[in-house]
Amino acid sequence: MQEAVVITGASSGIGEATAYKFASEGFDLLLIGRSTEKLEKVKTQAQARNINIKIETLAMDLKDFDATKLQAKLAKLSKPTILVNSAGVYTQNKPDDTSLDIWKDMFEVNLFGSVKITQSLWPIFKANQKGSIVNVASTTALKPTPNTSAYSASKAAVVNWTTCLAQEGGEFNIRANVVCPGIVETPLHNFYNAKANEKDKIHAGITDMQLLKKIGRPEYIAESIFFLGSEQSTWTTGAVHNVDGGINIK
Ligand SMILES: NC(=O)c1ccc[n+]([C@@H]2O[C@H](COP(=O)([O-])OP(=O)(O)OC[C@H]3O[C@@H](n4cnc5c(N)ncnc54)[C@H](OP(=O)(O)O)[C@@H]3O)[C@@H](O)[C@H]2O)c1
Repeated sequence: MQEAVVITGASSGIGEATAYKFASEGFDLLLIGRSTEKLEKVKTQAQARNINIKIETLAMDLKDFDATKLQAKLAKLSKPTILVNSAGVYTQNKPDDTSLDIWKDMFEVNLFGSVKITQSLWPIFKANQKGSIVNVASTTALKPTPNTSAYSASKAAVVNWTTCLAQEGGEFNIRANVVCPGIVETPLHNFYNAKANEKDKIHAGITDMQLLKKIGRPEYIAESIFFLGSEQSTWTTGAVHNVDGGINIK
């Protein structure tokens, strides 16, 4: 039976790679991001991987979440059974430079954005007695680093919230798991657009931080998200899954 996966942050990085993975595996897709242009590009590339699936896009800032628009898009797809919350923002600020607005922004997107869309899908998952939620947190949720307090705290909240969801969803066959990526090369980081020679130096530094001596690629995270989202992990809920080259235990 055809099923649909809803992916936030699908216009870039980890969410984009996740869209390609689920497309290749035959799922219908609802791709959510802010940029219509980027979403359309991802849609085209995902469709090229599988012409038999239906793909819808929804350009929406999660700070202005609109449940009606979400439901209208879902109506065009097969039954949604998986939600991947990958949308996120990141900032590095010293404690005395981290304004309350920055704190609010981190929580508005990284936590409340995911909460709002999860609340919209929860009744559908419950009615169908089937649902799988994969939240994308970060290694900083478990091992915070200096000058990331607002980001790290928002991601720690995501991990904690995911555990609650797992406890609340079990009786309805709703699973909830969280992936904690390490440093992944995506536009989230300033170094993504650095000049080649500068980037080489940054890469060398990041590589040295890992137990596995390579920088993270969005595809590595997408593989784990697919595992946790799909029935491959049918008896897994409440898991905190590190995909980080070992940085978390170094
Ligand atoms: N990259 C890493 O090293 C790393 C490490 C640990 C955790 N993570 C987490 O992984 C997730 C994905 O990050 P990424 O590396 O793939 O970053 P990315 O390439 O910058 O992608 C971020 C995505 O989030 C979307 N987004 C941002 N703010 C939004 C908002 N207000 N409303 C709706 N969508 C919004 C962006 O949409 P538009 O592009 O359309 O604006 C984009 O699709 C994030 O939650 C991030 O915290 C990343």
